[in-house]
Amino acid sequence: MNPPLPEARGTARPSPEIYLDACATSPPATEVLEAMEVAHREAWANPSSLHGFGLAAADRLERDRQALASRLGCASEELMLVSGGSEAIHTALIGCAGSLEPGRVLLSAVEHPASYAAADAMARRGWDAQLLPVDRRGVVDLEALQALLHPPTRLVSILWGQSEVGTLQPITVIGQLCRQAGVLLHVDAVQVVGHRSIDFSRLPVDLLSCAAHKLQGPRGVGALLVRRGIRLEPLIAGVQEGGRRGGTEPVALVAGFATALELAERRLAAHEGQDPMGPLRDRLLDELLRLEGVRLSGPDPDDPSGRLPHHISLLVTSAKDRPVSGRRLVRELARLGYAVSSGSACTSGATATGSGAPGASAVLLAMGYPPEEASSGLRVSLGPWITPADLAGLPAALEQARRNLAVSPG
Ligand SMILES: Cc1ncc(COP(=O)(O)O)c(C=O)c1O
Repeated sequence: MNPPLPEARGTARPSPEIYLDACATSPPATEVLEAMEVAHREAWANPSSLHGFGLAAADRLERDRQALASRLGCASEELMLVSGGSEAIHTALIGCAGSLEPGRVLLSAVEHPASYAAADAMARRGWDAQLLPVDRRGVVDLEALQALLHPPTRLVSILWGQSEVGTLQPITVIGQLCRQAGVLLHVDAVQVVGHRSIDFSRLPVDLLSCAAHKLQGPRGVGALLVRRGIRLEPLIAGVQEGGRRGGTEPVALVAGFATALELAERRLAAHEGQDPMGPLRDRLLDELLRLEGVRLSGPDPDDPSGRLPHHISLLVTSAKDRPVSGRRLVRELARLGYAVSSGSACTSGATATGSGAPGASAVLLAMGYPPEEASSGLRVSLGPWITPADLAGLPAALEQARRNLAVSPG
């Protein structure tokens, strides 16, 4: 028996749908809302002000920064507060581009669009961006990486947990290879933080991005961890964040972030370091895979290379064995009371992928799926607000949605 979840006091929960889209964002925990309310009331001032109001805000900010840093295993001066995952990634990549000689940057073929946008900005500064292929599970080809880990490669950026198909990359091995080659490594850990403990001091990683809203914290705040000694050109110049990011710090959002991370870490500690969503996910996945026309994409949860513990990605076909549009399934499931995702909202579209298949996911295409199948992805992602009872009706609802679409094609 698992011990009860420590944050069982509740969540601002959307209704009447059951929210199964944790990888998009997550509902704030009650404790997070309370911490933010207190910070808004008691520490609303500008932390740079020298009067008592400012000092109270600075004190609160510093306490929360230190709490975040100690939970992530870094020094507090290695933690830069930013507005979320996209800004953390842009700061890491464009910040490095501004402080290094132009060279080559390597990214996997299954990154979040924010990383490709930042790499485009690097290319405008004279950098050559190259994509590393992935296998059918979405795992980066390590031989291709090794073959390119020499000058002019100066930076590698890899997403640790893939949001659409759940693939976990072998970050420690990738980091060791980068270290041996003297190449900097940025890791997009936006989907990982909160689902496994991070000890930055022990990771062979130079920069790491995360966002509070994926772990029941507020939207609008995140962190970039920057190993001591690495210089970054600021995206927004100013005195805050040690001169690396200008702008009055959002003290209440940081309080919410620190509380969310504390809840997540306590939950992991209560389950021997494992995300308690794992067993719930495994049971649900077993049931879903028993349905006709439903199969898994991305790595098997038993695959030693691993998969995000709260993540399910499926491909769905009709009774005639034709791929069913993931987007249409999402709309149908919403009507039936389940909020899920096609998993390709950010990366899809015939124009974006050039595949000619509307809604085809760039991630599934990169993993070798044909365009038609690459538009039939469905993602279910769980969080601590979910109970087993919430999931009980999902397999039948998916079966129903598949049947409904068969009678109203197009
Ligand atoms: C893997 C990954 N990286 C980066 C981001 C961007 O984060 P944010 O929405 O906080 O800007 C996301 C958001 O979905 C993500 O899943």
